[in-house]
Amino acid sequence: MNFQQVLEEIVAETASLEKEGNVANYIPELAKVSPDHFGISLHLLNGKHYRTGDSEMRFSIQSIAKVFSLSMAIGLLGESIFQRVDVEPSGTAFNSLLQLDYEEGIPRNPFINAGALVVVDILLSELKDPQKELLQYVRKLAGNQEINFNDYVAASEKVEGYRNIAMANLLKSHGNLHNKVEDVLDFYFRLCSIEMSCSELSKTFLVYAHHGRIPHTREKILTKSQAKRLNALMQTCGFYDEAGEFSYKVGLPGKSGVGGGIVAVLPEKFSLSVWSPALNKKGNSVRGMKALELFTTKTGLSVF
Ligand code: DON
Repeated sequence: MNFQQVLEEIVAETASLEKEGNVANYIPELAKVSPDHFGISLHLLNGKHYRTGDSEMRFSIQSIAKVFSLSMAIGLLGESIFQRVDVEPSGTAFNSLLQLDYEEGIPRNPFINAGALVVVDILLSELKDPQKELLQYVRKLAGNQEINFNDYVAASEKVEGYRNIAMANLLKSHGNLHNKVEDVLDFYFRLCSIEMSCSELSKTFLVYAHHGRIPHTREKILTKSQAKRLNALMQTCGFYDEAGEFSYKVGLPGKSGVGGGIVAVLPEKFSLSVWSPALNKKGNSVRGMKALELFTTKTGLSVF
């Protein structure tokens, strides 16, 4: 298959979507990003790499980073973390507070904000130097020591993070945060501020297409069963109240972020990432979703 040609076709066929949707504006630093960027990168497990557009430009990966915090927590503590966060799709927005109160502070899944706050709280309790160790973990998966947080983005989200602040307080009131609310939020905002390019993301996510083994070091960070479950969570919960639509149209486990990035994997085959900053009302990249749909339709490569 000529993957480079497929990527070039996708760029051309999605160009008309460039002006659809809006850049996230509830995080002031993200509101400054131009909606014109488009990058796409495909890493195959056989070592081949294809990319085009702004594939080397770093952007704010936002909720995509929740996969790294979850993967780290599962690797450290295994199934026990699921006593504090469930594994069900929420059917509600990523920042919704509605279910959390009547479900007594147990978030539906680890990818909605409430669930990610609980995962971050678990890491805070478990690690000696949480920010440093998390960054080291991501750098190890990426095979790249230059991956970093963006302190401006983290600070900017903190200033206007009213919903996350409310959510963390609600979790605390239900006894499902063990650390200080302020510390959990600080760690969470820093996690979301990690910056990576499409090429860096697709390379990093190969570990989830490879049964939990980092291809470039051969180190195993998750068991085969844990990697299967993490992918299942991406499939069912990675796009919040659009998880059904993403499964239906793209047919791959994946994760989006409000920076406009999306990354998806096909176990035993590839990892594919795309970046286009303008989002639909559910917080997912408009052009990015279409690009991934075209990829699996043109190549016939999906889990279904
Ligand atoms: O907490 C927030 O609202 C952001 N830091 C992350 C949300 C996000 O990326 C949702 N994904 N599509």
